[in-house]
Amino acid sequence: MMSTSDNNRDIEILAFAGSLRKGSYNKALLRAAKELAPESLNIQIFDLEGIPLYNADVEAQGDPKRVSEFKETIREAEGLLIATPEYNHGVPGVTKNAIDWASRPAKKAPLNEKPVGILGASPGMTGSARGQSQLRQAFEFTNSYCMPQPEILVSRAHEKFDEEGDLTDEATRKFLGKYLDALNDWVNKFTGE
Ligand code: FNR
Repeated sequence: MMSTSDNNRDIEILAFAGSLRKGSYNKALLRAAKELAPESLNIQIFDLEGIPLYNADVEAQGDPKRVSEFKETIREAEGLLIATPEYNHGVPGVTKNAIDWASRPAKKAPLNEKPVGILGASPGMTGSARGQSQLRQAFEFTNSYCMPQPEILVSRAHEKFDEEGDLTDEATRKFLGKYLDALNDWVNKFTGE
């Protein structure tokens, strides 16, 4: 692991968005996070395309290749960054399904004792607030360390990203930078030397 000392060490973060669509605001938010992260935070983005629906019978035969890759990259990372949309006032199946795979096997799962940051975007006024809240509950069971504050709820996302999916809203860019500084410190609490 690339560790030096205190808060100057490089922290490997695995990020994924709970949306499969190309023009996803949540994917775009992660690209912005990669751009705005402090130097000590290395963010690698994993695309959930190809992760099948969780099925214990399939799992019993061995994880599908894409699932193995996903779980392995989580194990290697020191922290997670998850951008989730909100569907029908809750966590979309795409996000939750990925968490379900990564929660196995219980006690020895890649999510066990993993620090996590949650954020999200929506064209609506609440910026994925309920989706994020529900996702926090899942991390109680997986024994993951979810950063309590700050929160980022990117509301009216269609006004904050341009047509190329670049985050153009200055206030959101600034706050995202602060959020990532906080995530850096949060992950360091668990993995720092
Ligand atoms: C939505 N959307 C939505 N937005 C919201 O703020 N609260 C909600 O409860 C819902 N519910 C909902 C259900 C379903 C089935 C869909 C398809 C959409 C709108 C949603 O926020 C919007 O489609 C986002 O653009 C989805 O995120 P990505 O794909 O842009 O990352």
